[in-house]
Amino acid sequence: MSETTLVIIKPDVVEAGNVGKVLARYEEAGLSIVAMDLRTIDGEFADRHYEEHLERDFYPNLRTFMTSGPMVPLVLRGEGSVARVRELNGATDPTKADPGTIRADFGESGPRNAVHASDSTESAAREIALWFPGL
Ligand code: PPS
Repeated sequence: MSETTLVIIKPDVVEAGNVGKVLARYEEAGLSIVAMDLRTIDGEFADRHYEEHLERDFYPNLRTFMTSGPMVPLVLRGEGSVARVRELNGATDPTKADPGTIRADFGESGPRNAVHASDSTESAAREIALWFPGL
C-alpha cells in the first residue's frame, strides 16, 4: 500500500555536503519526495519531535546535536515506505548498520547517525503533521 513517512537528514550529513547522495538513495529505491525543506530547529521543537524520549539518558546529547545546524526534513511516498526507508537507513547505530545502508555509509556514532525516519505509520502521521502542517 502506498504510504508516507518522515525522514530528517541530520546536521552531520548537511555539514559534510552529502544531502544529494542521501536523497539519491531514496529516489533510486522508487520513493517520491512530496515535501522537503532546509530547516534549523530549536530545543522546544526537538522536544516535540522526540516526545517519547525526553527522559532517556541520551536525550540531552541528541537534543544538542539536532539543534546544532540546518537539517533537511522531507516526506517520502511509496509502497510500504515506512519499512522500506528503515531498510535503506540501516540500524540506528551506524557502527552496527549493514554495509551499503545510509547510516553505514554516512553516519558515525552516537547521535551522528545521518538520518531519522518514522518507525510506524502512526508515528509518520504525527511527525508529518508536526514538520509539515497542512500537507
Ligand atoms: S528505542 O529505545 O528503540 O525507542 O530507541 P531508538 O529507536 O533506538 O532511538 C531513539 C532515538 O534516540 C537516538 N539515540 C541516541 N542518541 C544519542 N546517543 C545515544 N546513545 C542514542 N541512542 C539512541 C536514536 O538515534 C533515535 O533517534 P533518531 O533520530 O530516530 O535516529
